[in-house]
Amino acid sequence: MGRTRDDRDVDRPHLEHFPAGFFDRADESDDAGFYAFDRFVTHIDDGAIAAVGELYDELGLDGDVLDLCSSWVSHFRRRPERLVITGMNAAELAANPMADEWFVQDLNVDPGLPCDDASFDAVTCCVSVDYLTRPLDVFAEVARVLRPCGWFVCTFSNRCFPTKAIRGWLATGDRGRMAIVQRYVELTDGFDEPVSQQRATHPTGDPLFAVMAQRLADVG
Ligand SMILES: C[S@@+](CC[C@H](N)C(=O)[O-])C[C@H]1O[C@@H](n2cnc3c(N)ncnc32)[C@H](O)[C@@H]1O
Repeated sequence: MGRTRDDRDVDRPHLEHFPAGFFDRADESDDAGFYAFDRFVTHIDDGAIAAVGELYDELGLDGDVLDLCSSWVSHFRRRPERLVITGMNAAELAANPMADEWFVQDLNVDPGLPCDDASFDAVTCCVSVDYLTRPLDVFAEVARVLRPCGWFVCTFSNRCFPTKAIRGWLATGDRGRMAIVQRYVELTDGFDEPVSQQRATHPTGDPLFAVMAQRLADVG
């Protein structure tokens, strides 16, 4: 017998911070099915992709870097010293030319990262935070695996797979989405104040927004 919404909520204490239904999705089927098909496409236009790479450069992301919800592209202009990527589609991850290591993991089923504490200098998540149904669990894991002062950088635009995005994301606009990701950071122990910026503003191109935060050196 399937679990009811109430049963599931017992395992999801983060729901108390958001309105009912916020993390529901039109398509509640396993993400594994949706991402079984290879998509060797880009999900934002060239200007927005360039803005992601420029931001990574500006922040000096290098060393051991983890790219969450990754695919065949990670948008770095320069290859980090060691790039580990994870996502849902093995063929896409295997084709990422910048990746040194990759693994498939459904973060909505298991947000626990198979990585040591303080093992990364930076963590990125590009145009994907809207698909996370347990974002506070994932963000807590990001804080755990980041080294002190390491950046967590979430970038997003105004496009998505609407059936797989959480309803809270679809119900608001660009500013509301920045506020959502900021809130995720604020609700997670171990991060400094989040910084939010619009990075790509071309009138006919994809906008690009970033919410980023640094791992605190000392968590009390
Ligand atoms: C729009 S694509 C973005 C891919 C890549 N980050 C980029 O910038 O092109 C969304 C990505 O989120 C990942 N994703 C979606 N649902 C996920 C889940 N439940 N767990 C882990 N990754 C997920 C998929 O692997 C997919 O590649």
